[in-house]
Amino acid sequence: MSVTKTHYAFMPDGTEVHLFTITNNNEISAGIITKGATLNSFTCPDKNGVMGDIIMGFDSIDNHITSGTYTGQVIGQYANRLCGGRFKVGDTEYQVTQNEKGKTCLHGGAEYSSAVWKAIIIDDNAVELTYHSPDGKEGFPGNVDVTVVYRLTDRNELEINYKAVSDKDTIINLTNHAYFNLGTPAAGDVLDHELQLFCDYFTPTDADSIPTGEIRSVKGTAFDFTETKKIGRDIAADDEQLIMCRGYDHNFCVNGEAGKLRLVAKVTDEKSGRKLEVMSDLPGVQLYTGNFIDGSETGKDGVVLQQHYGFCLETQYYPDTPNQPSFPQCTFKAGEVFKSTTIFKV
Ligand code: GLA
Repeated sequence: MSVTKTHYAFMPDGTEVHLFTITNNNEISAGIITKGATLNSFTCPDKNGVMGDIIMGFDSIDNHITSGTYTGQVIGQYANRLCGGRFKVGDTEYQVTQNEKGKTCLHGGAEYSSAVWKAIIIDDNAVELTYHSPDGKEGFPGNVDVTVVYRLTDRNELEINYKAVSDKDTIINLTNHAYFNLGTPAAGDVLDHELQLFCDYFTPTDADSIPTGEIRSVKGTAFDFTETKKIGRDIAADDEQLIMCRGYDHNFCVNGEAGKLRLVAKVTDEKSGRKLEVMSDLPGVQLYTGNFIDGSETGKDGVVLQQHYGFCLETQYYPDTPNQPSFPQCTFKAGEVFKSTTIFKV
């Protein structure tokens, strides 16, 4: 087990960005850069023992700064969407940034994901990153202190622990927006990856990807991943929800009790022989199949990133929760601690 800290790049304002690399006793490693607390790489062997990086992302700071993909970044203060960028905490109404189509708030703007986080090595297999979000930034209430720990175990689990506390009542929804490609992006799209989701329901959306409030059974629909199937099997089905989003870009309701760590998803790629398991204690997960990636960006090793070259499993509270009283809520009182864990196991 080891963690190294090296220089990665400088931001345009001169702030230094560091790269932390955690390596376990199986030679599996995770690279984290302090800009956006980004999971920049996750390198593991294929069925022939050949190492490959399963994170679709970038190898230059410029791309990390300009890309709208949020790849690998920690997203806050509210991951996913808020209708009209508006919500209430108690009796107070807040208007936050409307960074999507001038209407909705997506991923809290780019505050957490564009910040350069402070980071220290806290163990021979863990890095702790911290960020202070000032009251009113992007419109969100509260001075929020956020801590994210990445830990890589010898069981090949990359565990991400989130903690946040605000000095005002506020909403908090944190996730990691890594795009995975178990064959590595150089091998092409992920449509042949086999996916199982431990989710019997999902939350259909309107044309702006805001949940309608319905909790719909996946049974008999293209959204049914309760039995393992290829990501691409039904992606082009004649389903209004899929057509609107050009593929999967939906929140699934994770079976079992939120607050308890449980299996969210299992993914395998027969070609490379790699697999990924996702566990979380959060109520939802966004399956996003890279629908809007369009060949306009070049990723690591010169690979031009095309549609479906990566999939995301963003563990989260459901989108637009504060405006949907029937969803599990994510309003936190001043001083109350938000705590959550997600594990990506290869
Ligand atoms: C999320 C959204 C997608 C897209 C990506 C970022 O997953 O649900 O619609 O905006 O982020 O590109």
